[in-house]
Amino acid sequence: MSAYPPIVLNTGARMPALALGGWAGLTEEERTQAKEWFLTALKSGYRHIDTAQIYYTEKSVGNAIRESGIPREELFITTKLPWNHHSRVAESFQKSLENLGTEYIDLYLVHFPQRVFYDETTDFPRNPDGSIKVVNSPTLNDVWADVETLLDTGKVKAIGVSNYSIKTLEELLKTAKVVPAVNQVELHPFLAQSKLLAYCKEKGIAVTAYTPTGYQTVLTDPTIVELAGKYGVSPAQIVLAWHLSRGVAAAPKSANESRQKENLNLPFLQPEDVAKISALDRGQRIANKADERGQVWGLTLEELGW
Ligand SMILES: NC(=O)c1ccc[n+]([C@@H]2O[C@H](COP(=O)([O-])OP(=O)(O)OC[C@H]3O[C@@H](n4cnc5c(N)ncnc54)[C@H](OP(=O)(O)O)[C@@H]3O)[C@@H](O)[C@H]2O)c1
Repeated sequence: MSAYPPIVLNTGARMPALALGGWAGLTEEERTQAKEWFLTALKSGYRHIDTAQIYYTEKSVGNAIRESGIPREELFITTKLPWNHHSRVAESFQKSLENLGTEYIDLYLVHFPQRVFYDETTDFPRNPDGSIKVVNSPTLNDVWADVETLLDTGKVKAIGVSNYSIKTLEELLKTAKVVPAVNQVELHPFLAQSKLLAYCKEKGIAVTAYTPTGYQTVLTDPTIVELAGKYGVSPAQIVLAWHLSRGVAAAPKSANESRQKENLNLPFLQPEDVAKISALDRGQRIANKADERGQVWGLTLEELGW
């Protein structure tokens, strides 16, 4: 188990800093089969799983938890409101609870600031020009107000957002009664997000990194490879240790038991090495990149504040 301490949220809850990423692919088979590697992760010591209703792995997470026999209170489960469910928050939240088969969710995130047209046949409705069909209503503020009411049910311990920037957080905070506990964003050495981290720290919002390894794009960087040699660990362990050293939670996905264990066993880095890795920042998105229209899932980088 990683010796890094949990992240204390603005609710007082302790969130394990290293989560297992729960995206498992596009096919029904991959999503069902994911139960097996969620289970190896739980047996290997993971106590935080990051899923989302739109990953279609909530049922597999629930099945793995029950099969593991680990008491629910020892686990931390994050799931997310789909981008096309912004007008149906209570109903969608209930669906996630049923999928997970659990009494409560530890952290519930608004998955994207984009509000996408609801079409029950697809999660990716498109305009005639091929762009994702985003809608302006409800507003970010309306969605957040609906998510806040979930706290009254006692079935969610903390609420937060994902893919929010300083710009969209500022908009949300104009009317928020509850400050988001977490903002989950793409973050790795090539996209160090230092300004967003400083902003979130000031507001009491914890940050979780997705695509935390930066894939082979980052893992083959000469500085990362050199540091892996220095500490006698893998490049992924160096990158994950960098996140935790900065007080950022990370949600690496691995379907492989030995890499799952590797990702939990992280070295402590010297401050100068943390700085060396942060200096690799080049503002490069690897997971959610702009398309040929300059949009990320229907919104421009400017609209997103990215
Ligand atoms: N909020 C959002 O919008 C959002 C967006 C994207 C992702 N996420 C979350 O973040 C999680 C992780 O994101 P991600 O899958 O994009 O990125 P990632 O976890 O950084 O990368 C996953 C890839 O790295 C490999 N890998 C894992 N550990 C490794 C190691 N020690 N050495 C070498 N390769 C390793 C995995 O392969 P193996 O499985 O074969 O080990 C897999 O191909 C997702 O599962 C999801 O929970 C959230």
